[in-house]
Formats: sequence, C-alpha cells, structure tokens
Amino acid sequence: MKQRIVIGNWKMNTTAEEAVLLVEELKKQAEYVELDVELGVCPPMPWLLALNEILDETEIGVGVQDAEPGDFGAQTGSVSIKMIAEHAEYVIIGHSERRSTGQDNDESINAKVKSALENSLTPVVCVGEFTHLYEKKRVRGRPTKLEEISNIFKQLQQAIKGVAEKDIPKLVVAYEPVWAIGTGKPASPEYAAEIIDRLRTVLKRASKRKLANEARILYGGSVTASNAKSYAELEEIDGVLVGGASLKASEFMKIAAAFSRQ
Ligand code: PGA
Repeated sequence: MKQRIVIGNWKMNTTAEEAVLLVEELKKQAEYVELDVELGVCPPMPWLLALNEILDETEIGVGVQDAEPGDFGAQTGSVSIKMIAEHAEYVIIGHSERRSTGQDNDESINAKVKSALENSLTPVVCVGEFTHLYEKKRVRGRPTKLEEISNIFKQLQQAIKGVAEKDIPKLVVAYEPVWAIGTGKPASPEYAAEIIDRLRTVLKRASKRKLANEARILYGGSVTASNAKSYAELEEIDGVLVGGASLKASEFMKIAAAFSRQ
C-alpha cells in the first residue's frame, strides 16, 4: 500500500529564527510518536540548507515552494532545481498563487515537473479551479461547470506532458481548489475525493493503470487539525498539502497523525 504524505507549504512566512524553532519543535514531536505517513515541509528558500541540516537524521523531508528548470545561466534572481537538488526532496510546482500572478503557466510548469524528475526530486504539482464547481451560474444557458472541471484536468495533462510512464508513480499531485485556499472554507471531503478520482483517470491515460494508482494525489485548501480526519477517512485522498496550519508544529503533527495508517 502506498504511503500517504502530508506536506507543509509555509509560503512567505517565518524569520530565520522562527523557521529553526518550528522545525526543532517538529523534530521533537516526531520523536514521540511513530507515524506511518511521509512528512515534508517547504520553507522559504533561504532557510532550506539550515533546515535540511537540522532534519537530516529525521524522517521529515524538506522541499521548496518553487524553482526554475534548467541548470545554471543568466537568470538574475532565480534558483534552479538543479542547484537545490542535493538539499531538498520536494518542489511545489504551479501553486495557484503563482499561476494567478502569471509567474507560472502550463509550459513553465511542465518544464519544472520534468526538471524535478531529472534531478530526483518529487514534484508536487498543484491544480485546481477558481470557482466552486457546484456554485457556478449558468452562462448563456449552458452550465460552465463542465468547462471548469475540464480545466482542472487540462492543467494536469499539460503538467505531465512528455513525462515517461515509469515516472508517473513518482508524482505527487495536489488538488487545491483556489476558493478553498486560505479562506477557512475547505472543499468537503466528498467533493475533493470526486475530483481526485477523476484526476487519477488523467494519470491512467498517461500510463498503465498500476503505475497511475501508485502516484499520490492530495487535497489542499484550509486543512486544519480539526478537519484532517474527515479527509483521511476517504481512500481516494492520499494526503494533504497544508498552508496556514503547517506553521504550528502541534497542529501540523495532528494533521500528520490523522493520515497515519497506524
Ligand atoms: P491553506 O493553504 O492550507 O492555508 O488553505 C494551502 C495551500 O495553499 O497550499
């Protein structure tokens, strides 16, 4: 059975000192409990090396929230996936906060996914719709819901274009409806599971069924310690990508415990 995964996306939060305190606390709490769940944190890039060293002998992995494809070059202000590959396990790719500002698009996301795989990092590919599918109004007599749904699947199709079949199981996909991110209004577990199930079919079209089933598809958007269990109860949901609630060690560990198979 594939291991479930809980990843913290710290976004643009924490001072250097706060970041160290947070991982020290996570490390301490992780020592007390044995959890059957993969755990990762994605701090701001400048803290990566220090935190990776602190977490070195633990089961908690470190990642980044974005990085550029390619190796080295004349790109002022950028950091490549290659540069961080030795110091990170995950790279979040195509988060809606980057897509919506034009910092990422289907092409850049696809290039980042391939670069992550080439450099043995786990890509955490984010996809999601802007408006709640069941609340969409009819436009010119036709429900726009279908269009929005197909957009989510197109995002994933584009992101994995050209990815070798053997690499499909290495993918982590995060289904994050934009309207649920940071709003305190999460998607219901059933809603999330339904979309995740369909995202799985996109992977099945790109590879053998068995390989597609090995990839992990997460939910993200206003996940907290109090609602985590309701997602963990559904087999379709292989874990969560957590924003705000990942900034408190005890809250994050409770979410991890909810997803532990033990
Ligand atoms: P949230 O963010 O948990 O604060 O809603 C999730 C995310 O953006 O990954």
